[in-house]
Amino acid sequence: MQSPRMLDNKWELAQFYGTVYGIEESQAIIEVLNEWAPTNNKKVREFESKFSEYVGGKYGIAANSWVGAAHLLAILMDIKKGDEFIVPALTFQASANIFHREGAKIVFADVDPRTFNIDPTKLEELITPRTRAIVVVHMCGQPCDMDPILEIARHHNLTVIQDAAHAPGTLYKGKKLGKLSDFVIYSFHQAKNISTLGEGGMLVTNNKEWVEKMKRLRGHGTGLYIGISSRMTDVQGAVGAIQMDRLESNNSIRRRLAYYMNTRIAEIEGMIVPYEMPDVYHVYHIYNVIIEPEVLGLDRGEFIKKLWTKKRILVGTQYYPTVNCLPAYKALGHGEGECPVAEDISSRLVSLPISPRFTESDMDELAEGIIDVVKLCKK
Ligand SMILES: Cc1ncc(COP(=O)(O)O)c(C=O)c1O
Repeated sequence: MQSPRMLDNKWELAQFYGTVYGIEESQAIIEVLNEWAPTNNKKVREFESKFSEYVGGKYGIAANSWVGAAHLLAILMDIKKGDEFIVPALTFQASANIFHREGAKIVFADVDPRTFNIDPTKLEELITPRTRAIVVVHMCGQPCDMDPILEIARHHNLTVIQDAAHAPGTLYKGKKLGKLSDFVIYSFHQAKNISTLGEGGMLVTNNKEWVEKMKRLRGHGTGLYIGISSRMTDVQGAVGAIQMDRLESNNSIRRRLAYYMNTRIAEIEGMIVPYEMPDVYHVYHIYNVIIEPEVLGLDRGEFIKKLWTKKRILVGTQYYPTVNCLPAYKALGHGEGECPVAEDISSRLVSLPISPRFTESDMDELAEGIIDVVKLCKK
């Protein structure tokens, strides 16, 4: 299979590019070029139906990004100033931004220290008469504990919005995410498990009426509504439809490598491997380990710096700081102490490179690099 060239540093490649492309995508792009490369045409429709069916939903609305899709939903929901949206503190800021921009007050929820996902036991205390929605983020590719969340939402009549940017193909107790709540939103950014040429997103839902409105909103509103422009192009749709054929293989390679890496990381005192809940299908978009600085003998910043300077291994800190501690949210009155578990986890996690292009021997090289750096620093 033809593939784009490897970057000089494979660890950097894994951090920035999540999928694999081949000759099939190149051919599909040329076919769409021969059709004058339209926007939002039959290839997008093909991708929408293929993807939404795969994730268990009836309808897909492809957009230019996760945020582009979430924006359509935010408009559909007609958010009034002061409506409250509960969002976990440990996520990428995008999970909160667009709802804030459309007028919602963001209420940050703490997370479960093992899964890094929103903690259902901390939700009730955040609910007020102004609460409209709970945004759940399936962090790293592991689904949230949806049963108690859906129960609370039902009880308070709240909308559950699933941020599945990390989680295409994830299963919760054998169930596809599209079957669990009204709205699931995906990202096809270049770093994700599959991509539509660097950017892209899709909202999956089961309600035809909402779909018709959101499709109009996506193309400026078609006179009936005041919409936005958030379309996916047909070149992207054609690539997305082919990427679908790679999704299961990309996910199963990630899972295999994650389990293998768990055995290697277990050799290192002071590093905790990702916890996987029973009865879920985790797709390891991110492989996050937690550092115990006192046991490891070095703090996270020093560890990350040494890995880079000594071994040229690039690791990430998804997500540091937590969203409530970002300057933009501090300016709104949020800040430290709001979500203590998320803030603690965020200060200690390190995301190691994982990629569908890797094999066990790459993971060995990574583990040995880490072991060397830890030894060196302990001297
Ligand atoms: C959890 C999460 N939500 C939302 C987004 C936003 O995705 P996009 O860049 O496609 O808008 C990302 C992107 O990295 C993400 O990680």
